[in-house]
Amino acid sequence: MVARQEELRIPHSRCPVTAGPGMWPAGTLAPGAEPVQAVVDGTADPASAVAFIRQYYRECAPAETPEPRIRRVIEEIDETGTYTHTPEELRFGTKVAWRNAGRCLGRLYWQSLVVRDLRHVREPEQIAAECVAHLKQAHNGGRIRSIVSVFAPDRPGRPGPRILSEQLIRYAGVRTGEKTWRGDPRNAALTDRARAAGWTASVDRFTPLPLLIQPEPAAAVRWFGLPPGAVVEVPITHPVYRWFAGLGARWYTVAAVSHLALEIGGVCYPSAPQNGWYVVTEVGARNLGDEHRYHLLPAIAERLGLDIGTDASLWRDRALVELNLAVLHSFRAAGVTMGDHHTESRRFLQHLDRERRAGRTVPTDWSWTVPPISGSATPVFHRYYDPVPADLRPAFVARTPW
Ligand code: ARG
Repeated sequence: MVARQEELRIPHSRCPVTAGPGMWPAGTLAPGAEPVQAVVDGTADPASAVAFIRQYYRECAPAETPEPRIRRVIEEIDETGTYTHTPEELRFGTKVAWRNAGRCLGRLYWQSLVVRDLRHVREPEQIAAECVAHLKQAHNGGRIRSIVSVFAPDRPGRPGPRILSEQLIRYAGVRTGEKTWRGDPRNAALTDRARAAGWTASVDRFTPLPLLIQPEPAAAVRWFGLPPGAVVEVPITHPVYRWFAGLGARWYTVAAVSHLALEIGGVCYPSAPQNGWYVVTEVGARNLGDEHRYHLLPAIAERLGLDIGTDASLWRDRALVELNLAVLHSFRAAGVTMGDHHTESRRFLQHLDRERRAGRTVPTDWSWTVPPISGSATPVFHRYYDPVPADLRPAFVARTPW
């Protein structure tokens, strides 16, 4: 079903919106809202398990009957409270979780996701080492590869370990005054947690945080510094303005989101870091441009000679374009994959088309899909999407606290 604007009245806004009755179909997520973990005590829900196994056979082995596998899964759940995915089921479920990610513009390539099956790994040292290996494999000499590392699942009475870091790489942030910061303000709470766990390194503007890992609910949080080689960064320069380099901006190459749980067929994998390549606007518009992040626009506008005393000079807009151009130029000059929002938007429409031909809908959050600059100059702006069902699984979901 393709939902139309008139039925949904989806506001064009990135602000959190409170769903009112009749605003969007029951059981779907309001724009900006994300699915949350449904499986909480490590006990696999048999109905979700059966639905997933059926989906697996439908899509991967349509000539075979799923019934024998379903019987074994139900038996295993009866005996142990949960069940173990085959490696193929895990790979398929993980790819579909990406396919179902309503906020992701990059889903055209969902089938080529590399799934690292690390379900036997639960010790913090080993998790940290595998995260480092993940980062190196994903960077891949600059040709960024999309990878997921799946660590131990929750089981009844034995929750899986949790990576507390929001991404495998994040820059520390500390407040230096009422409105001033050193580093990335977004990561202030994580920086505090790292400090509380015993991390003492000094914080500069772009200091990677250590990985924070908690092996079980009441256990101490462990920190692991990322070794040299795990964090590749690109200094930001501009193709025309030489002064740009003097801003001292930089960014890392691998965006590996690590704070979401992966739910497949009633099983919850609480640590399943996944990365893709960046789209320029993520870094150029949001990370470096947002007022509550690196807030570089006033400095850039001043160097451009623009009047920042009036909104009407459009200094923010003009600075944003130069900043995005600089980020794209810098990554590409360094030989690192970096998408531009025009190409990635067109690819997304290609994905919609492909999925339609496969008889599937593409649940999508408009407010996350349209890029933060030049929205209407990209094709994803000019249409509406299927809403995201709150119970759509397999999915990456916001983890509930232990
Ligand atoms: N927007 C986040 C960031 O700027 C990264 C989210 C994942 N992005 C991606 N291209 N896979 O760090």
